[in-house]
Amino acid sequence: MSTSPSLPPVVVTGGAGAIGSPLAHRLYSRGHEVRVIDNLSAGREALLRDLQGQARFRFHLEDVRNTEAIAPVFSGVQEVWHLAANADVRKGAADPRIDFEQGSRATFSVLECARRADVPRFFYSSSSVVYGFPTVFPTPETYGPLFPQSQYAASKLAAEGMVSAYCHSYGLHGWIFRFANIIGPGMTHGVIFDFLTKLRRDPTRLEVLGDGRQAKSYLWLDDCVAGLLLAADRAKETVNLFNLGTADRIPVATIAERVVAALGGKARIEYTGGPRGWVGDVPQQLLDTGRMQALGWKPRYTSLQAVDATIAALRPELGL
Ligand SMILES: NC(=O)c1ccc[n+]([C@@H]2O[C@H](COP(=O)([O-])OP(=O)(O)OC[C@H]3O[C@@H](n4cnc5c(N)ncnc54)[C@H](O)[C@@H]3O)[C@@H](O)[C@H]2O)c1
Repeated sequence: MSTSPSLPPVVVTGGAGAIGSPLAHRLYSRGHEVRVIDNLSAGREALLRDLQGQARFRFHLEDVRNTEAIAPVFSGVQEVWHLAANADVRKGAADPRIDFEQGSRATFSVLECARRADVPRFFYSSSSVVYGFPTVFPTPETYGPLFPQSQYAASKLAAEGMVSAYCHSYGLHGWIFRFANIIGPGMTHGVIFDFLTKLRRDPTRLEVLGDGRQAKSYLWLDDCVAGLLLAADRAKETVNLFNLGTADRIPVATIAERVVAALGGKARIEYTGGPRGWVGDVPQQLLDTGRMQALGWKPRYTSLQAVDATIAALRPELGL
């Protein structure tokens, strides 16, 4: 790990997760002191292996809802990157409390810590699901009205509102990113992780939720992190709102075929049917990323390239 000169401390909540861990690495490489807060409910400390023991890195095993316990971590901090949340949309249908707790309440707690410590810059990982079922594709940031279809989406929209209110009330600057599907190594949720896990259990068949025609944009993890940092450097509004995704979308059936082919092509693909994979699923998604492109960002991978790279990255992680 580099020993670049020390830049101001930053907090990354959810920094042991799939997106948070490469982000923590990149912030560290830039020279920041990096403080990760994660309760390891979905993340893994192994993803931060390279940073452990470094002088400019601290890992805090804590639930971000415990405001008093995490408040000291924000002392002297210049940036908060708030990524901690339940990231699995499907869980909210079974228990609506999960997204309220891990999304809305968690965000309130982190914002409170940022306010009390006079942190000037706050970054939030929202989602394209706030658009509900949009009728405009690619969907721009100005699209509305926003009618969330899941508890997860509702918690993201609520959190966006809180970030905006804190910025306008307490002098913070905010960045809100509405992600498409972010995929890459380290994932413990999402369509490719699910398909590989199912095939590990039963290599003869792959059950696909829905009719396979749901078509979405899949953004490679490194492209996402590069976008986050570019927007952090170049966007200067009080509240900066950006879509992050690829310029294309691909059907779930294509992903199923790629996963099956990568594992030898023997499994039978079976669709459960219907236009939605689960309660709260948004079957069609394609984001207008013109705002990010205007800053100079362009993803390296298309959706299909990101899918193939993710299959290759997750196979060894899952022992396949
Ligand atoms: N991956 C995607 O496709 C995608 C799309 C849209 C938005 N997002 C958002 O991006 C963020 C990161 O997603 P990810 O894919 O890296 O998911 P992830 O599950 O890998 O990471 C989330 C991290 O937050 C931690 N965490 C959860 N609740 C916590 C709590 N109460 N206190 C402390 N830590 C907690 C988990 O242990 C995990 O390490 C999430 O907010 C997610 O909703 C992700």
